Amino acid sequence: MATSIPKAPTLGSSRDLGSIIKLDYPDKEEPVSVLNNIAADLIYLGDTGAITPTGAFYFGDNLPILLSLLKQYAGKVRLVYIDPPFAAAGNFSTRNQTHAYNDDRHGYYYIEYIRKRLIVLRELMARDGSIYLHLDQNMAFTMKVIMDEVFGQDNFRNFIIRKKCNPKNFTRKSFGNIADYILFYSKSPGYIFNKQYQSWAEERAKKEYQYVDADGRLFKKVPIHAPGVRNGETGKQWRGMSPPPGKHWQYPPSTLDEMDKNNEIYWSPNGNPRRKIYLEDSEGISFQDIWLDCKDPHNQNICITGYPTEKNISLIERIVLASSNPGDIVLDAFVGSGTTLQAALMHQRTAIGIDNSPEAFRSVLYRFINGTTKMGDFVKNKMQTGTQLKLPFYSLDLYSSFEEIKAAREILIERKLRLKIA
Ligand SMILES: C[S@@+](CC[C@H](N)C(=O)[O-])C[C@H]1O[C@@H](n2cnc3c(N)ncnc32)[C@H](O)[C@@H]1O
Repeated sequence: MATSIPKAPTLGSSRDLGSIIKLDYPDKEEPVSVLNNIAADLIYLGDTGAITPTGAFYFGDNLPILLSLLKQYAGKVRLVYIDPPFAAAGNFSTRNQTHAYNDDRHGYYYIEYIRKRLIVLRELMARDGSIYLHLDQNMAFTMKVIMDEVFGQDNFRNFIIRKKCNPKNFTRKSFGNIADYILFYSKSPGYIFNKQYQSWAEERAKKEYQYVDADGRLFKKVPIHAPGVRNGETGKQWRGMSPPPGKHWQYPPSTLDEMDKNNEIYWSPNGNPRRKIYLEDSEGISFQDIWLDCKDPHNQNICITGYPTEKNISLIERIVLASSNPGDIVLDAFVGSGTTLQAALMHQRTAIGIDNSPEAFRSVLYRFINGTTKMGDFVKNKMQTGTQLKLPFYSLDLYSSFEEIKAAREILIERKLRLKIA
């Protein structure tokens, strides 16, 4: 595999402002004008009751709500994960066939609807914050251009490919689609990132760490040189050997001597040095940008709310752990059943979620009061997993006469009373 050596930017490279590609379409609003849209008036409905406040769920259109959150949270949100409609031209219903939401915007209407929200989300994000935009093949590539425009091409971090489901009996004249995509950007180059690791399966560890040291520890051998010619210490001879052509030593000769003294260098029978890396020092296999292990609910025992397009919680936990720290604010403006809220709260983050579907509102209430349920119709012991986490609920003032709002208020009051009695 060839690796390239990064060069200083040249004219026309990604870092040259002149090279930014912008999508042009009718009614594209200037960012300043987007930010001057009317912010929402919000009403407090109650909370699921627990010890400390841990964020909130807001019911209503996310654009005016995000604008309203600017007053309190501008520059403070460490992580945004959003999983908006995918321009799938469909309507989505819950497992018990209640309508949840429509996904009927397409073309530039869709692009502009997401772009406006991205503009406000950027204002809410902390300088060291990150954003993950989850899409499928319909819009991921178009929205990459918009993300470059809003966040800057230099702040692009990954185009993650996720295996979303098991292979299906695909009847179309094309390859089966089991992937969706997550665009990861940061607000600036100085963003928080905690590397995430997959633990070693025994078989894979033995394959990778094939050698056994005198003390029984498993190790692998890696080169001690790296690409690029250097004129300093690392370009000099070590033990009478020069680095291979076009390369330099990874360490100065004095460090290599020290490493050899500590038995950290492996010498091949024909005298080539390599560095020993021990399995016991490895935190695991660091996750790459193809995620095969977080399919959406794929077996009958997995606990869900039943909301359509509900995401796998371990997928969102990985993102939360990688791009935020305990105490940080995590925001999902298309929160659906509240998977992000739960993932964030479980890891001691403050979680903010927004959705305008009454069914999403019910699902979030259900998740935080009753928990999630195993989805299989015939699964015995359909134990529910209660979250026991406090979540305050708010709504757009406009909706205060909605049935959902009245019902939610009653549920929250009743829940508070029950907690008090207990
Ligand atoms: C793909 S679903 C999110 C599913 C979620 N990730 C989960 O795990 O349950 C998209 C959600 O965006 C919501 N939505 C769409 N447009 C919205 C808007 N303008 N304001 C707030 N929510 C919106 C829909 O109601 C839907 O619940």
